[in-house]
Amino acid sequence: MKIESVLVTGTTSGVGLALLELYAERGAKVIAVNRRRVPELEARYPQVRFECLDVRSAPAVATLLGGLVESEQLPDAFILNAGINHIDNDAFFDISSYQLVMETNLYGVLNFVQPLTELAPGGAPRHVIAISSMARYVGNPYGLGYSTSKQALTACFEAWSRMYAGTDLIFQRVMLGPVSTAMFAMHDRFPGWMVRIKQLFSVSARGTARAVARLATTRKSRLFYPWRAVPLYLAMWLGRSLVPGFFRGQRTLAGRERRGLARASGEVTR
Ligand SMILES: NC(=O)c1ccc[n+]([C@@H]2O[C@H](COP(=O)([O-])OP(=O)(O)OC[C@H]3O[C@@H](n4cnc5c(N)ncnc54)[C@H](OP(=O)(O)O)[C@@H]3O)[C@@H](O)[C@H]2O)c1
Repeated sequence: MKIESVLVTGTTSGVGLALLELYAERGAKVIAVNRRRVPELEARYPQVRFECLDVRSAPAVATLLGGLVESEQLPDAFILNAGINHIDNDAFFDISSYQLVMETNLYGVLNFVQPLTELAPGGAPRHVIAISSMARYVGNPYGLGYSTSKQALTACFEAWSRMYAGTDLIFQRVMLGPVSTAMFAMHDRFPGWMVRIKQLFSVSARGTARAVARLATTRKSRLFYPWRAVPLYLAMWLGRSLVPGFFRGQRTLAGRERRGLARASGEVTR
């Protein structure tokens, strides 16, 4: 199944930018959805249609999709890639930071899904692809919004890929391991040894884009990429489950400080 037109969210950097470049080089019609304008990028790719909107805005997404339906320009594939990662659970749980991550990573995808499931059935096949993460299986106690948004996203796409199997809506999820991008480089509070191992297993944004583009030519419901990261995440999951304090974060700063105070006042015995 050849993809001749594609909409990608979050193309100013990382995986989204690599997808934009790849599809533009292949001569596909690309709609790039970003929350801000990047004039140099727009100048470099005059053939790409750039749409400036925040994926958290359901009305803005619905208006964009409504316009595409009306002009009969609905693309063959939607790659819902935009995402953020914040430390939201450190000295205290920061609900506004958590909410921002959930609204971007989860609702920023769901906002596209509702209008697509409302389309009259029986049209040309459309791929709806969510970029999720293997971190969904391991979690990061410091970045709760990230891991729980990816867990929810994965669960939704798992359900839709079954419910819509064999129809014109092809729901696919990409479970990414570490990819060398700006997000990967952020300080996520993992212990140094874990960061080094993740670096060892990381892949390029370009290779990731190629793997996602390959998935979009199939009806497969999921892709784990790169495969070599799967045992790593499995080992981290086992370690997390069996070894107390495996993540430095399992005893977050808040917990440590509170336990210290409680111990000093004699309230905690273990
Ligand atoms: N890198 C990894 O190791 C890794 C691993 C697993 C999964 N992933 C997933 O892969 C996807 C791409 O991540 P990346 O590593 O390429 O990160 P990245 O380089 O930080 O790119 C994220 C993109 O999302 C855009 N974005 C953020 N919030 C947005 C919003 N509200 N509306 C529209 N666009 C928004 C950003 O735009 P601005 O430039 O305006 O911020 C940027 O273009 C994410 O969903 C991420 O969770 C990454």
